[in-house]
Amino acid sequence: MKSEMEQDILKVLVTEEEIQRRIAELGAELYDQFHDKNPLFLGVLKGSFVFMADLVRACQVKSDVEFIAVSSYQNATVSSGRVQITHDLQQDITGRNVVIVEDILDSGNTLAFLKDYFLTKGAASITIATLLDKPARRTKAITADYVGFVVPDEFVVGYGLDYCQRYRNVPYIGVLKPEVYANH
Ligand code: PRP
Repeated sequence: MKSEMEQDILKVLVTEEEIQRRIAELGAELYDQFHDKNPLFLGVLKGSFVFMADLVRACQVKSDVEFIAVSSYQNATVSSGRVQITHDLQQDITGRNVVIVEDILDSGNTLAFLKDYFLTKGAASITIATLLDKPARRTKAITADYVGFVVPDEFVVGYGLDYCQRYRNVPYIGVLKPEVYANH
């Protein structure tokens, strides 16, 4: 029997098993790059919290974690283009090898802004790890160094991704039924 939330899901795009298999691969690749570099895993809230939790456990390097919260969608389905910091860094990142952890790279507005911001704050290097990449919607020239899955231009939710703050706890990546967001 499907949960109330799952009744709003049109189809499963990436299963829980596929996500976990891919994260194990990403963790191993990140280990090879960063095992002697004391990286700072920097999660972009809110969407990245589920991926962040799994990715850092799949990558057993000496590291620490930090978070920043930004918002550019404000409950819309298209990025406003204005990235607002709603919760700033709580530590000095000067000289750190920063691994930005994102749930999705869409227009690229968020990551373009954050890359500049972290360099301004003195980061020694910036590496981008995103679970999902939706290249069809890109408006900024930005690419990720580590990508879990390339996804088509559909409205995806689950595994941290929301629609109007809902569905973040769906354990897989699903496509939302159009009628759910059609009236907004
Ligand atoms: C989402 C997502 C990324 C960003 C990607 O965040 O988590 O941070 O959009 O889109 P972009 O490439 O077009 O900038 P959102 O602003 O919806 O906030 P959330 O993480 O709290 O869901």
